[in-house]
Amino acid sequence: MKTTSIAILISGSGSNAINIIQYFKQNDTINVALLLSNNPNSKALKTAEKMAIKGCVFNNESFKKKGELLSLLRSNGVDFVVLAGFLRKIPVEVVSFYKNKIVNIHPSLLPKYGGKGMYGMYVHRAVIDNKEDKSGISIHFVNDVYDEGGIIFQQSILVDAVDTPKSLAKKIQQLEHHHYPMIIESIIKTSVINNNEY
Ligand code: GRF
Repeated sequence: MKTTSIAILISGSGSNAINIIQYFKQNDTINVALLLSNNPNSKALKTAEKMAIKGCVFNNESFKKKGELLSLLRSNGVDFVVLAGFLRKIPVEVVSFYKNKIVNIHPSLLPKYGGKGMYGMYVHRAVIDNKEDKSGISIHFVNDVYDEGGIIFQQSILVDAVDTPKSLAKKIQQLEHHHYPMIIESIIKTSVINNNEY
């Protein structure tokens, strides 16, 4: 079976990215080719380097240049793009080239608590402030509107009366680490089985 090369894009600490890299380390047909960050302080860059994964930092100026990200991905033979806490909008030319081959994870049950400005602790604080009785994760395809691509997978958890934004964030992170790599694997496998061009 053909090998599928993944690029992971991050802006934060990158715990999901490292978890995904670990998950695919022994996989014969799916490999992480590239870790891209627009934040030079992302902890995951150093960890990935130790795991022999190519890392690349780009600044927001170069990100704005049309075609830059697309050519970086293509020149590294990337077939599939994973967003894991990446805070910038993906350029339209990348979205159209990698149609149905870019996924994102969001720490809420979309469409609730999605959209611009809704990330990280902003999401968990809003969930607690609104006394929601459940929250969860959403994995979705990426189109050109924030958090609005087709939903692939959701998993909910109960929010306890004693939960704080911090304790909720911890539970959600565990859920993300458990599900995201498996869902990525199953999308790629389904796509290969259906003979989607890579
Ligand atoms: C995750 O909560 C993910 O849902 C969101 O960004 C966060 C990234 O966390 N899109 P980490 O940097 O992987 O720890």
